[in-house]
Amino acid sequence: MPTHARPASLLSALRPQNQDRLYDFYRDLRSTDDLFWDRHLNAWIATGHAVVTSTAGDPRFSSVRYPDIEAVSEELRPLARVLSRQMLYSDAPDHARLRALLSRAFTPRAVATLRDRIRDAVDRILTRAAPAGRLDIVADLARPLPLAVICDLLGVPEEDRSVLSSWSDPIAAAIGSSRLDPDDSRAASQSMEHMLAYLRELLTRRDGPPAPHTLRALLATGTENPDQDFDELLANCALLLIAGHETTTHFIGNAALALLSHPQAADQLRDRADLIPAAVEELLRYDSPVQLMLRRARHDLDLAGRSIAAGQAVLLVCGAANRDPAAFPDPDVLDFQRPGGRHVAFGYGPHFCLGAALARLEGAVVLEALLTRLPDWRLEGAAPRRQRSLNFRGLDSLEVAFTRFPADVERSGVDARPAECPAQRTR
Ligand code: HEM
Repeated sequence: MPTHARPASLLSALRPQNQDRLYDFYRDLRSTDDLFWDRHLNAWIATGHAVVTSTAGDPRFSSVRYPDIEAVSEELRPLARVLSRQMLYSDAPDHARLRALLSRAFTPRAVATLRDRIRDAVDRILTRAAPAGRLDIVADLARPLPLAVICDLLGVPEEDRSVLSSWSDPIAAAIGSSRLDPDDSRAASQSMEHMLAYLRELLTRRDGPPAPHTLRALLATGTENPDQDFDELLANCALLLIAGHETTTHFIGNAALALLSHPQAADQLRDRADLIPAAVEELLRYDSPVQLMLRRARHDLDLAGRSIAAGQAVLLVCGAANRDPAAFPDPDVLDFQRPGGRHVAFGYGPHFCLGAALARLEGAVVLEALLTRLPDWRLEGAAPRRQRSLNFRGLDSLEVAFTRFPADVERSGVDARPAECPAQRTR
């Protein structure tokens, strides 16, 4: 039974007391009704695993975020125009065409070639923190690492990375917010303009051929294809930059906090490096970086016995689906040997995360490094701070202290679990 009457809106998740007990809040929502109309958000809210997966892969729904650009506020419209050209917010056939163009850079095999570089980057960060015996896992590791990896892939020189990140933040905030004021909308639109201008210059730079491992090399094929619209290509590079680092940043922070709060689970992983790939999946399920996906009914339809009108939005709450006891027995327990169950932290269906293999690899490398190199880490300093967002779940800071920093740790050779892509099955 729910512990309180159903709140009128998913918006209540933003109340500070509910951010701290988000999964209890979701449980109350789900156990009352796993699909309900939220009049404050003007959308259906889906919290059950079955309804989330069936909707995410259902061709009766569209992923187009702004069906009527002219209805979008003047300040947000420039950003909305760019987002509308990104694969994440497109439907077939444009979606499949764009995905095919970029997916070669993100196959598990392509991504595995990055493993040593990611390990070296993590080692450098931890070694730098060692003399002080303190580390802000978010600011020092979870933020710079995924940005460095995606910039490496795109061939962005090191000196340009911080400015790219400063453009990415307001855009991610705009995507993640349910209500934006005009100043934030304007800032997000302007940041997108700067980012596109930068990427245009980067992709057309004639300073010798792009390094062979970079996504820029792959994109060169796109830029040389006369049928490929260059602005569309740029919009999708921007998507990779934003999706490629904000989400992974949140994942690393959330996973580290979960391990710090479950010392026995951390000890188990220290003893059993072979469990790291399963731990990455379980940690993604347990505290998912992306909490919401949006779909819109293409026409009047029936979903799980409810009548959905054409154009109505359905918000799929991944974080709630990942704690649904019908899919995951004892869902609030962190269990690296959990049998079966498919989490939806990377989504489900045709839009299944393109960067899943990369995110898994980054997660596996970071977990192994934190556990082996900081064996006595503990929370210290300011309490971890959560960001306030309905769409994303992440931390602003996570300060730890440690006294031991073993120099010679054995690298297990453990790799990320190969990306399973339900997209292929549901198409
Ligand atoms: C732990 C980290 C990550 C999480 C939790 C995550 C989550 C997701 C989710 C839930 C979706 C599906 C959205 C929907 O169906 O509406 C998605 C799509 C996507 N993600 Fe990720 N993501 C992560 C990392 C990455 C990385 C590292 C990249 C790229 C380098 C990336 C690129 C993309 C792209 C391009 C899409 C759109 C795919 C499509 O529309 O076909 N993501 N991601």
